[in-house]
Amino acid sequence: MERTLVICKPDAVERGLIGEIISRLERKGLRIVAADLRTIDAHTASRHYEEHVGKPFYADLVEFIGRGPAMVMVVAGPPGTWKVVRTLMGPTNPADAPPGTIRGDLAIEMTENLIHGSDGPESAAREIEIFFPGLA
Ligand code: RTP
Ligand code: MG
Repeated sequence: MERTLVICKPDAVERGLIGEIISRLERKGLRIVAADLRTIDAHTASRHYEEHVGKPFYADLVEFIGRGPAMVMVVAGPPGTWKVVRTLMGPTNPADAPPGTIRGDLAIEMTENLIHGSDGPESAAREIEIFFPGLA
């Protein structure tokens, strides 16, 4: 089994969409192996988004991800699970995301794109260790 980190971002919690998002992951055949509803503090956000430090959208991103509770999850499935999740999510900008994807069906603005999924096996291991130390 391979594991990846998924976050239903604060906009998903605010809009009552975490059930919809988890349901899509489960219907695809993935399993939720850890889940925690928590408000992500600035320090944790800066570790999680360290690749984006210095980019013009960074401050907005850290503020957004910590503005309220997020559903942080470890999702498991066959090899390539991180990619399966990314396919279900759709492209970063919901305006470009095709129908059938989470972002394509349920979101329209860039920052408020509902869901995070690790972008590779190394990112998954790094991010799981940040949010669920000792689990990976
Ligand atoms: P995520 O990390 O949240 O799963 O999203 P992603 O891989 O699809 O996109 P990434 O490039 O990692 O960007 C992280 C988040 O930063 C915001 N963003 N804004 N204004 C912009 O040009 C811009 N680019 C990225 C998005 O909220 C994106 O989810
Ligand atoms: Mg990313």
